Formats: sequence, C-alpha cells, structure tokens
Amino acid sequence: MQRFLFPRWVNPLLGIFAVATAAGVVFAGAMGGLITDPKTLNVGYEPTQPVPFSHAIHAGQLKLDCRYCHNTVFEAAHAAVPPTATCINCHSPADDAGQTALAAVHPTSVKLGPIRESWSLGRSVAWTRVHNLPSFVYFNHAAHVNSGVSCVTCHGRIDQMETVYQAKELSMAWCISCHREPNEHLRPIERVTKLDWEWDPEEVIDGKKLGKQEDWAASHRLESDINPLVNCAVCHR
Ligand code: HEC
Ligand code: HEC
Ligand code: HEC
Ligand code: HEC
Ligand code: HEC
Repeated sequence: MQRFLFPRWVNPLLGIFAVATAAGVVFAGAMGGLITDPKTLNVGYEPTQPVPFSHAIHAGQLKLDCRYCHNTVFEAAHAAVPPTATCINCHSPADDAGQTALAAVHPTSVKLGPIRESWSLGRSVAWTRVHNLPSFVYFNHAAHVNSGVSCVTCHGRIDQMETVYQAKELSMAWCISCHREPNEHLRPIERVTKLDWEWDPEEVIDGKKLGKQEDWAASHRLESDINPLVNCAVCHR
C-alpha cells in the first residue's frame, strides 16, 4: 500500500501549526489557572438591576425582615425573589383617575417606573441573579437556616448594601470547611435573619440565658441532630 504523504505546499504551514499549538498550551494553562482564580468565583460580583432596589433602605432602615420578601427561605431549597405584588403593597401606583393612595410611598418615582410597568402588564421584573452555583451543585436554604446558619454568614451584610453583591467565594472548599466545623456558625433560629446580631451570653431566649456560644452550639447540635456531611453525593446528586 502506498504511504500517504502530505503535499509539499503543506510545509510552510508547519510553522503556523507549531505557533498555534504553543498558544493552545498557554491558553489551556491560563484556563486551568482561572478555575481557581477567585475572580471566577465571583466575589464582588455586583450586577446592575433593572430597578435600583436598596436593601440598605428596606432591610436596614425600614427593618423589614428578610422573610417579608424571601418568604420561601425557611421552607424550600430556593429563596424566592419577591413578585411585583410585594413591592406594590407599599409602592402602589395611581389609579385610572390619577388618584394615589394616601399610604403609597413614592407613587410617581421614576426609579419605580419598571415596577409600575410590570404591575400593569402582569409581567415579572427581570432581576439579574447575583449568586449562582454551577448546575451540578445541589444547595438547600431550608436545611441551613433551620439549623441556625445566618444569612450573614453566606451573604455578608445585605442589610447595608445599596446594590447586592456577592460577599463570599462560594467554592467547594468554603462549603466543606463549614460542614467539617459548623459549631461557631450556629445561632438561635430566631436570630438567623438579624444580620447585625452578635452573641451575648446574657441574652434570654425562650426563658433561657444563651450562655457561651460553644456550649450552646454543642447542645443545639445534639438536640436538633445537626451533622453536615462531606461525602460527594450530598452536594453532587
Ligand atoms: C422589600 C423586599 C426585600 C427584603 C425585605 C429583602 N430582600 Fe433580598 N432581595 C429583594 C429583591 C427584589 C431582590 C432582587 C434584586 C436585587 O438583587 O437587589 C433581592 C435579592 C437578594 C439577594 C441576591 C439574590 C441573588 O440573585 O443571588 C440576597 C442574597 C438577598 N436578597 C438577601 C436578603 C436578606 C439576607 C434580607 C434580610 C436582611 C433581604 N434580602 C431582605 C427584596 C428584598
Ligand atoms: C449556607 C450558606 C447560605 C445561607 C445561610 C443563606 N444563603 Fe442564600 N444563597 C446561598 C447560595 C450558595 C446561593 C446560590 C444558590 C444557587 O445558585 O443555587 C444563595 C442564593 C440566594 C438567593 C437567590 C435565589 C436562590 O435561592 O438561588 C436569595 C434571594 C438568597 N440566597 C437569600 C438568602 C436569605 C434571605 C438567607 C437567610 C434567611 C440566606 N439566603 C441564607 C447560600 C446561603
Ligand atoms: C413595607 C413597605 C415597602 C415595601 C414592601 C417596598 N418598599 Fe420600596 N420603599 C419603601 C419606603 C418607605 C421607601 C422610601 C425610603 C425613603 O425615601 O427614605 C422606599 C423606597 C424605594 C425606592 C426608592 C424610590 C425613590 O424614588 O427614591 C425604590 C426604587 C424602591 N423602594 C423599590 C422597591 C421594590 C422594588 C420593592 C419590592 C421588591 C419595594 N420597594 C418594596 C417601602 C417599601
Ligand atoms: C456556615 C456553615 C455552612 C456553609 C458555609 C455551608 N453549609 Fe451546607 N450545611 C450546613 C449545616 C449546619 C447543614 C445541616 C446539616 C444537618 O441538618 O444535619 C448543612 C446541610 C447541607 C446539605 C444537606 C441538605 C439536605 O437536604 O439534607 C447540603 C446539600 C449542603 N449543606 C450543601 C452546601 C453547599 C453546596 C454549600 C456551599 C455552597 C454549603 N452547604 C455551605 C452548614 C453549612
Ligand atoms: C458541601 C458541598 C460539597 C461537597 C460535599 C462536595 N462538593 Fe464538589 N463542589 C461543590 C461546589 C459548591 C462546587 C462548585 C465550586 C465552583 O464553582 O468553583 C463543586 C465543584 C466540584 C467539581 C468541579 C471543580 C471545578 O473546578 O470546576 C468537582 C470535580 C467536584 N466538586 C467533585 C467533588 C467530589 C469528588 C466530592 C467528594 C469528595 C465533592 N465534590 C464534594 C460542593 C461540594
């Protein structure tokens, strides 16, 4: 059988192939490096939202509880982002006759334009997601907040943010380090949505003094049977 030979005109291309291969190696190396680069894990990611909704005003100044808006967070895997109707409770627009309700807050604010439009058209607001794990990772809010892990541990001081940004690197190492040693991150469930709360041994909850955090956490874990796992199938199912 005749050996296959490349035609002679290929020879000059060999140089180009060599350069392309070298560039490919550099590219693959860079990609490999980026996977562990904190930037790709999105710390500080702060997308512009369609409405300049401020947690600093609503959760901070007005002290609305997180559950007023994220009402599924204690029951479900996902923390629901509120529908427009929740905003309209306070920001109701003028009626057809141009009359605004007495209690309406900023009924004609330009910033709230997209909310009024969403309400009149019955279309939801296209909020941009801030936190987003890869689809091969399973996460569950209810399991965490009902064990006494506060929103602040994973999201930072949302109640002080004008625009929400990602405060923590949601890496596998981060998840696992808490699963191994959860005690110092646990607090009474009644305080999970109080982001500025700090441990005070003298504080009384349900008629009992809290005492030292480490003692409280140890007995809380026993009582509620809290044992976060680190085997792969817990988070990759
Ligand atoms: C008045 C309603 C309201 C309250 C109260 C509220 N939020 Fe939000 N939250 C929203 C809306 C609307 C968004 C989506 C727009 C944005 O990201 O700002 C959001 C987004 C978020 C996000 C980002 C979600 C994502 O896309 O990754 C987090 C985290 C969050 N809220 C946590 C909290 C915490 C913690 C509290 C309590 C301290 C709280 N929120 C109180 C309405 C609210
Ligand atoms: C143990 C860490 C942890 C705690 C505690 C936690 N979150 Fe989250 N939160 C996350 C992660 C991780 C995501 C991204 C989930 C995903 O991409 O599937 C997220 C996403 C969100 C979102 C976007 C919607 C969603 O479910 O993906 C909202 C809103 C939110 N969190 C609000 C809250 C509020 C409010 C609390 C406290 C009541 C809270 N979170 C407590 C880790 C946490
Ligand atoms: C419990 C009542 C209440 C709810 C519910 C509420 N807000 Fe507000 N909002 C307020 C108040 C009060 C202010 C005014 C604060 C100020 O002016 O100091 C405000 C101010 C604002 C502003 C600034 C308006 C301007 O022109 O300065 C925006 C934007 C806004 N809210 C968006 C929203 C969105 C979006 C939702 C739903 C996710 C929402 N609000 C839910 C009470 C509420
Ligand atoms: C600050 C501590 C902490 C962090 C951070 C944390 N976890 Fe957890 N996780 C817990 C605790 C506590 C439990 C409850 C274990 C129990 O009830 O036995 C839990 C339980 C779980 C469960 C079991 C839920 C179920 O339905 O049984 C999953 C899945 C999980 N975590 C995934 C994650 C992932 C993914 C991350 C990172 C994005 C993460 N966790 C970060 C503390 C943490
Ligand atoms: C507590 C939750 C948790 C457990 C347990 C866990 N993982 Fe992960 N894993 C994650 C998260 C979160 C990510 C996504 C991190 C990111 O986006 O960088 C991830 C990403 C990965 C990736 C992709 C890495 C990459 O760079 O893209 C692999 C592979 C993986 N995990 C394998 C495993 C194996 C094998 C085990 C068991 C030894 C395991 N995981 C246990 C949460 C977990």
